[in-house]
Amino acid sequence: MITTEPRGALVTPPLQQPARRPTPRRRGAVVAAGLPAAVVALLAAAAGPAAAATTGSSGVGDPYFPLAGNGGYNVHHYDLTLGYDPKTRHLEGRAVITARATERLTRFDLDLKGLKVTSITVNHAKAAFRRDGQELVVSPRKALRKGQEFRTTVTYAGTPGPVTDPDGSLDGWIPTDDGAFVAGEPQGAMTWFPANNHPKDKASYDFAITVPAGRTAVSNGVFRGQKTAKGRTTFRWRQSEPMAAYLATATVGTFKVEQYTAPGGLKVFNAVDPREAAASAAVLKKLPSVLAWESTLFGPYPFKGAGAIVDRAPQAGYALETQARPVYDRAPDLSTLVHESAHQWFGNSVSLTTWKDIWLNEGFATYAEWLYDEQHGGQSAQKTFDALYASPASSDLWAFPPADPGSGAHIFDAPVYSRGAMALHKLRTAVGDRTFLRILRTWASDHRDGHGTTAQFIRLSERQSGKDLDQLFHTWIGTKGKPSKP
Ligand code: ARG
Ligand code: ZN
Repeated sequence: MITTEPRGALVTPPLQQPARRPTPRRRGAVVAAGLPAAVVALLAAAAGPAAAATTGSSGVGDPYFPLAGNGGYNVHHYDLTLGYDPKTRHLEGRAVITARATERLTRFDLDLKGLKVTSITVNHAKAAFRRDGQELVVSPRKALRKGQEFRTTVTYAGTPGPVTDPDGSLDGWIPTDDGAFVAGEPQGAMTWFPANNHPKDKASYDFAITVPAGRTAVSNGVFRGQKTAKGRTTFRWRQSEPMAAYLATATVGTFKVEQYTAPGGLKVFNAVDPREAAASAAVLKKLPSVLAWESTLFGPYPFKGAGAIVDRAPQAGYALETQARPVYDRAPDLSTLVHESAHQWFGNSVSLTTWKDIWLNEGFATYAEWLYDEQHGGQSAQKTFDALYASPASSDLWAFPPADPGSGAHIFDAPVYSRGAMALHKLRTAVGDRTFLRILRTWASDHRDGHGTTAQFIRLSERQSGKDLDQLFHTWIGTKGKPSKP
């Protein structure tokens, strides 16, 4: 038993069958789109320092997604005004992006895939632009000085659709029968707004999303009200804490809306596809107690808003921890709710600097599921660990080291989720419950609204425990194959 005592009121009834959550279901793993690591590294290098002089680079140098994000500036705020018609699937958008140049810039890139750009201004002056794959290359009339804050307005329209990820899954703007399921991990944000599309660059967001009356547009953060005129309703949302672009959503559908203030003052906004309402009601009711329980373990909940978007989106086949308000492709089970909730601390508030570190998100959210089971009448984390360790050496679980998936094609595979959680369990048993929880809480508070790396997590664990943990981490996240002892 872990040493934090769940307060009586927070204890939920034992789970009937502690449902194990498989790694996200994907449509057949297509590896072809993934470039060999060496090529990717070359591309990243080519896009890097040489091109960065005054033109901004076409990527932030992520070896798994070399074109993701851009160099030369940091975004502070996105102000997105969108209109979507589910019938025609037409999207109209205007993005006002406030950023600061980190070097002198005669041009810079944004990421935008598909859609037609009709005009761009930088600091209110018309700017020249061209498209090059996912790169939207902007040349402001006047060069931007290093350190200058500048405002880019992009007006665009078209029929958005998802991208296919290296692992074969769909991501981005995914049309549904009544709207769109919008989930952007790892790349899909660029399918619906121009962005510095990498978690390295976090920003605050405002959204105004207009849809036909009767439909609801749900986004991140806090709900700021709705207004209907001439048969169309505009929904306003504000995500004030920094957010990575992949965590933005503008999910549209016919939804039943539920709003309430949870004990402690947290504002909850749920939007549920009526076809999923019966199946999700019991689990959704537990959201406040799940967040309260996670707060006792991980520290204060990091955001102002909370809630859930329960859609019916078989095309997606996975849920995503969209900031403050996860989006579910179907009625979630309790483990999935616990998982996406834990991401609010691990992945959302504390972000990745490189996709290679994805176990810092998925291993942690998976371990939260184990802890939840353990503290709510399910099986102990040790039992869950033991059951996984019993997997044969030939199992996919041991296919690669959690901290080195090798390419974007494997970032959502079993070693990242399950073996990542096993590594945390090994850490817990090595340092003891009290220190383990202190490590998790310190991680969440030291890096709140920021970033964390695997190396930093190892250093923190060693500092907090006073132990040399190199061998433990090397074995559990740094080597492939089944470790010889559990
Ligand atoms: N982070 C999500 C989760 O673990 C999974 C997202 C999967 N995305 C994808 N494109 N396959 O809940
Ligand atoms: Zn996850």
